[in-house]
Amino acid sequence: MIVDIGGGTTDIAIVSMNGVVTSYTIKTAGNAIDRSIAKYIQNKYKLLIGERTAEKVKIELCNLYDPNDEVTYTVKGRSLLKGLPAQIQLSEIELFKAIEDDTFAIMEAIRKVLEDAPPELVGDIYDNGLLLTGGGALLGGLTQLIKRTLGINCNIAKDAINCVAKGTGMAFGSMTTLLDGFETATVYKYR
Ligand SMILES: Nc1ncnc2c1ncn2[C@@H]1O[C@H](COP(=O)(O)OP(=O)(O)OP(=O)(O)O)[C@@H](O)[C@H]1O
Ligand SMILES: [Mg+2]
Repeated sequence: MIVDIGGGTTDIAIVSMNGVVTSYTIKTAGNAIDRSIAKYIQNKYKLLIGERTAEKVKIELCNLYDPNDEVTYTVKGRSLLKGLPAQIQLSEIELFKAIEDDTFAIMEAIRKVLEDAPPELVGDIYDNGLLLTGGGALLGGLTQLIKRTLGINCNIAKDAINCVAKGTGMAFGSMTTLLDGFETATVYKYR
């Protein structure tokens, strides 16, 4: 079972015997999480922050497993009230609240794929755990949260951010043996 949390989408699939058994995609992933963070900070602190700042807060402060009130991060932006530069201290708990709905949506999507999967494969997944890929795999505390919420082990792929691109390249070497993904593939010739 692969859970690929990218920028635009979270793609979940169960792969077996060279083919995709079941899959599901939702539009909740890194970018949506960044937007939720910016919205929370704007609503609660009347502080306007950009996308890059929201992403940085996510990378530096995210703790989905045991967020703490005392761990904080300085967020700088522009005060909506004064129009001037301002900063606030955001805690792990506040960040958790800001992205709770997005996180829940990802958990529910994984649950749905597990529910649709043949029981014997679910047994394998239970033994082996699922594999997280994409930049979102690095969200702080995600593996522990998955374990706690869904009761299955969870591993982060080596080189999680690049492995999808690398794997796609490698898959082209097995076009004849892989059963899915190449139906509409075209070979482009560049002049
Ligand atoms: N350390 C990190 N912690 C949390 N999120 C991270 C981390 N590093 C990168 N990301 C997030 O990962 C996302 C990008 O991941 P990735 O490169 O896998 O996406 P993509 O493949 O371009 O998007 P998609 O799969 O939706 O087309 C961004 O939202 C980025 O903020
Ligand atoms: Mg991707």
